[in-house]
Amino acid sequence: MANSKYEYVKDFEVNDNILPHTWIVIRIDGRAFTKFSQAHQFQKPNDLQALLLMNASAVAVVEDLADVVFAYGVSDEYSFVLRKTSTLYQRRARCVSIRVFQFHVSVLLCSLLTSVKHLTGFGLSSCNLLISKLISVICSLFASSYVMNWGKYFPETKLQYAPAFDGRAVCYPSESILRDYLSWRQVDCHINNQYNTCFWNLVGSGKSTAESQNMLKGTTADVKNNLLFDTFKINYNDLPQIFRKGSIVYRKKVEKVVKVEDGQEIKRLRSCAVVEHEDIIRDNFWTQYPYILGGK
Ligand code: GTP
Ligand code: MG
Repeated sequence: MANSKYEYVKDFEVNDNILPHTWIVIRIDGRAFTKFSQAHQFQKPNDLQALLLMNASAVAVVEDLADVVFAYGVSDEYSFVLRKTSTLYQRRARCVSIRVFQFHVSVLLCSLLTSVKHLTGFGLSSCNLLISKLISVICSLFASSYVMNWGKYFPETKLQYAPAFDGRAVCYPSESILRDYLSWRQVDCHINNQYNTCFWNLVGSGKSTAESQNMLKGTTADVKNNLLFDTFKINYNDLPQIFRKGSIVYRKKVEKVVKVEDGQEIKRLRSCAVVEHEDIIRDNFWTQYPYILGGK
């Protein structure tokens, strides 16, 4: 198909608006999971097995794609953070730069300026194409892992139909804005969890959904905490961390058994994807693991 009259259709492929050299977050979200969770009788407001299945699927993505340095998940969504200097598009830009350089040297027409112009143009479009690719790769890898692991987390429940996840990419120009994005998702997790815990306990106590909604309308966090404690004897802070904070996935060096010699387990430090439920709003976590966003 080289140089055929149909080549022009390729121009339509480079219309994403993703800037290079920024933090890229690819957020995937379960399609119609309100219906999916009902069809599979997920526990309300939180189904631990469903959350663990989401986490296992996210681990599969992080283990497969070296450029994903961090992931945060809550409910039916997961945000995957790509390394700022993603080697995926660096590699692509590098091979384009070599081709451009060779071309200019061979015809003796090159000036530094035109090379840079060519490079920037090529680098940007190849980056955009790779972003489209990454969104689809992450969505499909996540969905297929979800299906593959279903039986492990729901051994008694038949998967009724294929789940789907949509994906979008957003870029953030600085680490501080990226952290604000992650804080926003974790605050959302807390607000929704607190509301849903109140709501489903009220419904469970015999109130209608409309009555429960009305009771919670406009209430502050303190009022909701008191309602949980006074009426249902639930101390909000005692609820599992996974429900209150969501889940994070990142690479960490952990001791792993690499072989067994004469009945003795030989352990070595190995980098692998771990799931935790830490606070990522305050500085503590990021100070403890500077390599995650620092790329060291
Ligand atoms: P779209 O994403 O727009 O397709 O709609 P959606 O139905 O997936 O809704 P949305 O993504 O806004 O919210 C996720 C929904 O998934 C929640 O509102 C719940 O109904 C459901 N869900 C997610 N996690 C759980 C869970 O642990 N238990 C239960 N019961 N439902 C859950
Ligand atoms: Mg959804």
